Order: sequence, then structure tokens, then C-alpha cells
Amino acid sequence: MQCPHYDAGRCHSCTLLEIDYPTQVLDKERHVAALLASIPTAAGPQWLPAVSSVESGFRNKAKMVVSGTVAEPVLGILDGTGRGVDLTDCGLYPDALQASFAPLAAFVTRANLEPYEVSGRGKRAQQRGELKYLLVTLSPDAELMVRFVLRSQEAIARIRKHLPSLRAELPALAVASANIQPTHAAVLEGDLEIPLTERTTLPMRIDDITLDLRPQSFFQTNTAVATELYRQAGAWVDEIAPSSLWDLYCGVGGFALHCAAPGRAVTGIEISAEAVAAASGTVEKLRDGGQADRFRDVTFAAGDATAFAVGPDAPGLPEMVIVNPPRRGIGADLAHWLEASGIDHVLYSSCNATTLAKDLAGMPSLRPVRARLLDMFPQTSHYEVLVLLERA
Ligand SMILES: C[S@@+](CC[C@H](N)C(=O)[O-])C[C@H]1O[C@@H](n2cnc3c(N)ncnc32)[C@H](O)[C@@H]1O
Repeated sequence: MQCPHYDAGRCHSCTLLEIDYPTQVLDKERHVAALLASIPTAAGPQWLPAVSSVESGFRNKAKMVVSGTVAEPVLGILDGTGRGVDLTDCGLYPDALQASFAPLAAFVTRANLEPYEVSGRGKRAQQRGELKYLLVTLSPDAELMVRFVLRSQEAIARIRKHLPSLRAELPALAVASANIQPTHAAVLEGDLEIPLTERTTLPMRIDDITLDLRPQSFFQTNTAVATELYRQAGAWVDEIAPSSLWDLYCGVGGFALHCAAPGRAVTGIEISAEAVAAASGTVEKLRDGGQADRFRDVTFAAGDATAFAVGPDAPGLPEMVIVNPPRRGIGADLAHWLEASGIDHVLYSSCNATTLAKDLAGMPSLRPVRARLLDMFPQTSHYEVLVLLERA
């Protein structure tokens, strides 16, 4: 992929841009294989051929820092000196996402949304402006969810007033909301989400299951590769055919729903109450839509994955567990619990092979038997890896 921003030294996000794509994938395969081989008990999973991605236009979500001025907003990133870099033509975004940025920038001007800015340091730091980020998600059906991350509620009335004009310019806009993030901290979003449209969920269709995405919920970044990830997980789970399955760190239910089957009890656990509400809504729709048998015994609950597993509320030991934690991994407590649990099969989907290897070292009785790299993040050193563990 050629990128004028990289060539000009304005953006360094794509650290592998100078390496041809097949080599990137090979290097990632070597990286993860070496990490797993470094765990004495982990040697020898069967590696399936890696799932590659298209090289550009694969990101379904844009996180645009808003800088510049009301009259001339800049959507993109901040450089080392705090100056805005326009990334509205970033090659990682599909055309439909790129096309949303000009109407959104015009809206910033029309609704008088002053870009947030911090000047000075320490106690002298002065904050001004309201609009911190624009978070834009594109669904497989080309609908958009737009979130305005704001310092306060000061601009909400203006956003509401001008929203019809934005919708006229951007007919794909299906869901809009404002997230209030009052602190100056390295946190992307705050707790308060204010819906601005009647619709509050974005349908993300993956094979025969349409996951409902709500504003404060995680979704895999690369929809095409996520589809392969859920297919692979579903295939391995079906081979093992557990009658009970937990999906820990379940988000809006991608693994749980793709691994559901008649006669299989599936429990999804997730810290975000919004994601759990979305997953519960999806499963109800699937039951009502004529698939009652397959989804009869699928439930979701909000909570901490480890606290659920070790705590008294867990509905007996499942035959199989899926874990898909954030980059920090599952941690020592959950790894030790899985090790001691006697559960025979665990499916670990990881976006950080270093913490995966650390977690696996903490559960030596669960041996990787199959593994597959899925390149969710081309042009960067990140990747997803799915590992099937079996008790020795
Ligand atoms: C990598 S995402 C995976 C989501 C989901 N499995 C999917 O495929 O979309 C990790 C998820 O873990 C959730 N999470 C973070 N900390 C958690 C915790 N302590 N307990 C349960 N879920 C947690 C996040 O909110 C996020 O949805």
C-alpha cells in the first residue's frame, strides 16, 4: 500500500508499510509460532494456513481526533508537536468511511463545534473547545454509526438542531450519539452516552447472524477477517460438540452466537452492560426469527470474566470455554482457574501473542493442539491468533 502521509513522515501508524504484504503475514506467523514454542508444554500445535486480509480499506471503524478550528476542522491525528494531521484519505478506511468525513467536517462548522485543545502543561494547562473525537463505524450494509466525543453537554442542542442537515448530506447515517468525556486524560470515551437518533444499534451482518452494535461496545476491526474468525471458532466448537459453553469477554456476542447449536447451553460474560444488552437483544431476535432451537439456551450477563468463573453465580462447570480478552490477556487468576478446572477444551482468541504466551504458561495442562493466525490488522505488527487448547 502506498501512503503519502507515511512517505512525508506525517503518520507512522502503519509500521510495516515498507514490507510487502505476503512477507508481513509470514513474519507474523513466525512471530507467534516462536512465542508458542517458547512455552515448554505448548510445542506442536497444528498450524492452519493463515487468513490474510485485503491490504487496504479493511478498517470498519475510524477514530478521528478533531483539531484545527470551527471554520477549518482537521480530522485525523495529532503529530508530535500537537498539530493536527488530516487523515481523511487514510488508505486503511474503505471508500464509504472516507466519503463520510467531508460531510462530518462541514457539520462541525455548521453546528459550531469547537475542536478541543489543550495548551500549556501541568497546573497551567488550559482546555478549550468541545469536540474531541469523531468515532465512525461502517456496517457491512454500508450504514454508519457516528459518535461525537465531547468535553461537556454544551454543544448537544446545536448538534440536535443541525442533525437533519447532516442526515440529508449523509443518508447512510443510521445511528448518532454523543459521548461525554469531561476529563483531560488518555481515555477515549466517558461513561455518559446520549443518543441523538431514534435508532441506537447498528446491525453488523456476519454470515447468517446480524450482531447489534451499540455505541459503547467493542467490535472486531476488520469485518471480513472477523467473519473468518467466527467461522473457524464455530467449526472447531462443532467438532468438539460441547453441550455447554462459556464465551468469556463476549462483547456483543460474536463467538457465542456463531457457536450456538440446538441442545448447547451457551453463556456469554462481558464487562460492558451496553454490549450485553445488545447481545441479549440479538438472541431474542434470532429466536423470534425462526431459529428458536439453535438459540434457545443462549444467555448473556454483565460482569467480570474472572469473577464470574471463580464466583458462586456460575451455572456449574461448562464442557468448553472460549476466551477473547483485551490486549492484557486473561491474567494469572483466570489462567490458574482454567488449569485447575478440569475443563477439557478452551478456545483462546488473542490479539496479543505476548500475553497469550504468558497466559498459556499459567495453564500447562491445556496444550495448544490447533492454531491459526488471522491478519486482522495489515500494515501493522498486530494480528489475531486463534488457539484450540486440549487437556493433556
Ligand atoms: C477483544 S474484545 C472481544 C469481544 C468479542 N469477543 C468479539 O468478538 O467482539 C474484549 C472484550 O472484553 C471486554 N472486557 C474487558 N474487560 C473485561 C472483564 N474484566 N471481564 C469481562 N469482559 C471484559 C471488553 O469490553 C471487550 O468487549
